[in-house]
Amino acid sequence: MRFALYLVSAVSLCAQVPDLTLAEKEEFLRTAKVVSTKDSKTGITGTIRATLSNGKLTHDAQIQTIDESKSRFEGSRGVEINFRDSYKFNIAGYRLGRLLGLNMIPPSVERNYAGKSAAFTWWIDEVMFDEAARMRKKEASPDTEKWNREMNVVRIFDQLIANTDRNLGNLLITKNWDIWMIDHTRAFRISKELLNAKNLVMCDRNFLAAMRKLDNATMRTAMANYITSSEISGILARRDKIVKFFEAGGEKALFTLESRP
Ligand SMILES: Nc1ncnc2c1ncn2[C@@H]1O[C@H](COP(=O)(O)OP(=O)(O)O)[C@@H](O)[C@H]1O
Ligand SMILES: [Mg+2]
Repeated sequence: MRFALYLVSAVSLCAQVPDLTLAEKEEFLRTAKVVSTKDSKTGITGTIRATLSNGKLTHDAQIQTIDESKSRFEGSRGVEINFRDSYKFNIAGYRLGRLLGLNMIPPSVERNYAGKSAAFTWWIDEVMFDEAARMRKKEASPDTEKWNREMNVVRIFDQLIANTDRNLGNLLITKNWDIWMIDHTRAFRISKELLNAKNLVMCDRNFLAAMRKLDNATMRTAMANYITSSEISGILARRDKIVKFFEAGGEKALFTLESRP
């Protein structure tokens, strides 16, 4: 009897997850109880993997508390002036992605954890591997076109947000070969220049149209508390360069990415 009940609840738990809206996932991340935690196996900032439950649904989240500023930082890419590494950028990355209609960044909200402000981010289920492991295993997506298109979106988004840390552990690939972008704590630099203009190759039409529409007021509202006005100015300046590049490229530099559920 107990086994049967368990089965029923397990089935209903599984069934609920795909049906949640982004707003519902955000609400869950903000309010569900932290049931257990463990340290992340990969990564360098010591993030936590937590299991959350609200009684009806149990799901994991990543907890990121880092919030550092350094006038000078020596990393693998050389010296960076005015370095920032902040959980706030995980939230800003999700919110900007949502504004742009990209469904490739998991929901991320601010929440207190162990006396600190933190980003709680929806854990991506059914991860097959990260991009580093995919390359090591020499595996390729069965749908090359979808893969290439999503990778183009990733590369452009990283130029837009001036992401200094799209290392291969920060791209997760699920069993159905969807690509997810995580870990934007070292993005949103104030530079008005693109980090790597060569990464602009082809762009999704809807993404381009949404980038064109971005403005100061919309971003200030959507990302208040998580991004400064200089960081917004950086996004807009880089956006102008990206839009100009694809306007010059014409129709042959565009594609339409099929939306993911
Ligand atoms: N939302 C998530 N869903 C699934 N796995 C995640 C998620 N967030 C983090 N991870 C896993 O934890 C690792 C470390 O998290 P990350 O945010 O990249 O922090 P770090 O700054 O330590 O690199 C990631 O490389 C990934 O394997
Ligand atoms: Mg990382």
